[in-house]
Amino acid sequence: MSLRVMSCDLILVLDAPSPAAVRPALKSLSGTVRWAKVGLEMYTACGPDCVREIADLGFNVFLDLKLHDIPNTVAKAVESAARLPIKMLTLHTGGGREMMEWAVKAQRQHAPELLLLGVTVLTSMGEKDLNEVGVATAPAQQVVRLGQLASEAGLRGLVCSPHEIAPLRAVLPPEVRLVTPGIRPRTASLDDQTRVMTPAEAAQAGANFIVVGRPIFKAPDPVAAARAILAELS
Ligand code: C5P
Repeated sequence: MSLRVMSCDLILVLDAPSPAAVRPALKSLSGTVRWAKVGLEMYTACGPDCVREIADLGFNVFLDLKLHDIPNTVAKAVESAARLPIKMLTLHTGGGREMMEWAVKAQRQHAPELLLLGVTVLTSMGEKDLNEVGVATAPAQQVVRLGQLASEAGLRGLVCSPHEIAPLRAVLPPEVRLVTPGIRPRTASLDDQTRVMTPAEAAQAGANFIVVGRPIFKAPDPVAAARAILAELS
């Protein structure tokens, strides 16, 4: 299936220990939302089986493992992941140029349709945190630096905060896909998110995918909440 289906599409976050924990909601949402993100919590608990189960429910799976290791190990992990029914996979751009180049080579060889996404600076890290690990620049500068490095290494997508879309769009080739969490419809609770954008704002800023969890799962009618977000995106 082609990734270029809409200018901005919705990815449902599955922050749960297993598909069973969210199965009723997943079943009802499967005709409405096309993408679902499996993160470390679910993957650590139930591994490839949960990926297959979610794909079998009709979702395109975004596997958010944030790989970060030596080039050979990451390339082999990409090769293993290529055997799963997934459409997106994350790795840490901080692993460096060679690690990303090896990952891209493995992806092109074993899963040409898989979109590898680079994670730059985690939004949980501020300037002080970066300084503590020896990075003497502000997070915003580091995001752009790592985004450019990722693009040079052949990555075709990045995960970023909505507020990083504009600076990244200013320096990256237009075909690089940007995937952004930190999205809240105007009427939804912020939960623990702080610097958010609405779905429409993120799409207008240049996001290709928005990643949304609690505003859908915590809504009284998750299908209606997802439809409202999709309507905003179109
Ligand atoms: O429920 P909510 O829509 O806030 O979920 C957002 C998801 O995106 C969570 O899985 C969260 O861990 C993830 N995320 C984020 N901000 C980042 C990176 C990932 O909210 N910078």
